Amino acid sequence: MRQRHFILVLFSLASFLVVVLQCTQVKKKDSRGPAYAGSSTCKSCHEDVSTAIVHNAHFNTSRFIAGTEATDSLGLPQASFVFTEKTKLGVEKRSGDLFQVAYIDGREVKAEKTDFAFGAGLSAYTFAYWYGNQLFQMPLNYHTREQQWVNSPGFPEEQIYFGRPIITRCLECHSSYVKNTLVQTNDLNLKEEFVKGSLIAGIDCERCHGPAMKHVEFHREHPQVKEATHMAVYRSLPLSRRIDMCAVCHSGISLQVLTSTFSFKPGDTLKSLPQYSTYAGQEPDVHGNQKQLLEASPCFKIGKAECVSCHDIHEAKKQSLEVYTQKCRSCHQNTVQDHQDQNQALLKQQCIDCHMPMLASTKIGFQVSNSKKKIPYQVRTHRIAVYEDVIKDSPPKIK
Ligand code: HEC
Ligand code: HEC
Ligand code: HEC
Ligand code: HEC
Ligand code: HEC
Ligand code: HEC
Ligand code: HEC
Repeated sequence: MRQRHFILVLFSLASFLVVVLQCTQVKKKDSRGPAYAGSSTCKSCHEDVSTAIVHNAHFNTSRFIAGTEATDSLGLPQASFVFTEKTKLGVEKRSGDLFQVAYIDGREVKAEKTDFAFGAGLSAYTFAYWYGNQLFQMPLNYHTREQQWVNSPGFPEEQIYFGRPIITRCLECHSSYVKNTLVQTNDLNLKEEFVKGSLIAGIDCERCHGPAMKHVEFHREHPQVKEATHMAVYRSLPLSRRIDMCAVCHSGISLQVLTSTFSFKPGDTLKSLPQYSTYAGQEPDVHGNQKQLLEASPCFKIGKAECVSCHDIHEAKKQSLEVYTQKCRSCHQNTVQDHQDQNQALLKQQCIDCHMPMLASTKIGFQVSNSKKKIPYQVRTHRIAVYEDVIKDSPPKIK
């Protein structure tokens, strides 16, 4: 009798443990801490936004790569990239994973597996592999517009380079979180290591909106309340702070920060980040400098045009240039009269190619195989102005 009782207790204890274990597995804790709810939590109340965002560039700006499915969904072909006659790099599928393999004189000297990808693929993907607890950039990028493998920007032209560590700064703009530690090396330098499980790929809801656990708990307990509680209301922030919420990642890579920008939340200001510098007259590189360029434009200086005047932030896919043109027209109604000498066909369609032309980054170029030629990295400039040379020397083509 007693023994049966004991077995029963043991049995119920075991099943209790199983249930607990299952719960903790399903409800994986957010690595940013208990103040964060995780973006899967938002869906129950914000269905539309949550469904749309899965397809947009912010959400997909980085991802883990594991197995054939991941590489196939990105449409990455196998290839051989020629650095010199002797030095070649193969992109090869091996037992379901995608490897970059270095060959010298036809002999394999190094092979690394693709573990992580940067970029939503509007122009390009950059790849990385784990080496212990460090992430290293892989030699080749994939250029989605040209559909070819290219040497990573800034890498040596005639050598295969596997040695550039990915720093937290990349992840601050291209992911939602990673925990890092500084480790001293044998030669007394510092190297950055990541806590692997802490990395949250993509830019999720709370990366932009800030920690939302209190918000979630409140609205679960008070379903009758229809006003947002414990949540910054974007529209009620001052203009400069609305822009800074985007500028924390759209002020270029020369923005020097001593503290991590992961903790930046709506209502914070960039000025509180150490060594923050503003546009000082000279033309900043078009890559990632949307804030400084826009702020130098009369549409902002006089018109107060801000990021969300033109960008629909949760949109699933890129807006067409015609949609953007409607936003221009909302402030510039009488433009057609001012444009007697201009290309009327283009004018009817859109304003963008003339006043926000695609310009090549002066910092980034992608070297193609078997050549020193570089494909320029083209970005829309946010310096909205009249571009004489764009219009006279090389008339923009109608898309
Ligand atoms: C239990 C329901 C519930 C959950 C879960 C929930 N919210 Fe909300 N949220 C609301 C309600 C209600 C409002 C106010 C009405 C509205 O704007 O939809 C709101 C409004 C908002 C707003 C708009 C604030 C404003 O007015 O500008 C944001 C941003 C927001 N939530 C973010 C989030 C994020 C991020 C998550 C997930 C981490 C989340 N919410 C999860 C109920 C919820
Ligand atoms: C955490 C960093 C981060 C924040 C905050 C952020 N962005 Fe971005 N944004 C990025 C990155 C990285 C990309 C590049 C995505 C890609 O193609 O991989 C991007 C891309 C974009 C694009 C081009 C993608 C497209 O679909 O057209 C627009 C527009 C944009 N951001 C606007 C904004 C606006 C407006 C805000 C503020 C409300 C904002 N971003 C806040 C990092 C950020
Ligand atoms: C790149 C930054 C960014 C990301 C990522 C983001 N939001 Fe937003 N969200 C904004 C901005 C900016 C606004 C204000 C838009 C406006 O007022 O024009 C906003 C507005 C909202 C609103 C108010 C109503 C609306 O639709 O305008 C809700 C609710 C919301 N977001 C929920 C979410 C949820 C849920 C997610 C994740 C699934 C998410 N957001 C991801 C930047 C972001
Ligand atoms: C200050 C924020 C910031 C930092 C730091 C940053 N990026 Fe970006 N990155 C962006 C933005 C914004 C874009 C898209 C628009 C642009 O180029 O202005 C972008 C574009 C990209 C793209 C092309 C995405 C596409 O869809 O075509 C890749 C790949 C990329 N970055 C990789 C990296 C890597 C690797 C690092 C670190 C060495 C890095 N970025 C550092 C903000 C940043
Ligand atoms: C929120 C309102 C607003 C929006 C949106 C806006 N602008 Fe402007 N823009 C202005 C104001 C105000 C001025 C300064 C007065 C003027 O020239 O009309 C200006 C000036 C300009 C100028 C003159 C630049 C110069 O150097 O003299 C051009 C060109 C221009 N805008 C084009 C555009 C285009 C193209 C778009 C859409 C991509 C756009 N604007 C969107 C308000 C806006
Ligand atoms: C006057 C309208 C307007 C304003 C204001 C504006 N943008 Fe844009 N943005 C555009 C247009 C138009 C494009 C080009 C879209 C395309 O080519 O499909 C664009 C493209 C982008 C891209 C992608 C660049 C590329 O070529 O890959 C980013 C990132 C971006 N915007 C961020 C921002 C941020 C951040 C702000 C606020 C600081 C902002 N934008 C303000 C009109 C605007
Ligand atoms: C074919 C190229 C082209 C297109 C398309 C175009 N513009 Fe212009 N725009 C110009 C040129 C060039 C000027 C300078 C006019 C001049 O000096 O005669 C100009 C002048 C302007 C100005 C006045 C700048 C000033 O103060 O002199 C504004 C505002 C403007 N454009 C807005 C727009 C808007 C809004 C659209 C879309 C509806 C648009 N433009 C489409 C080429 C273009």
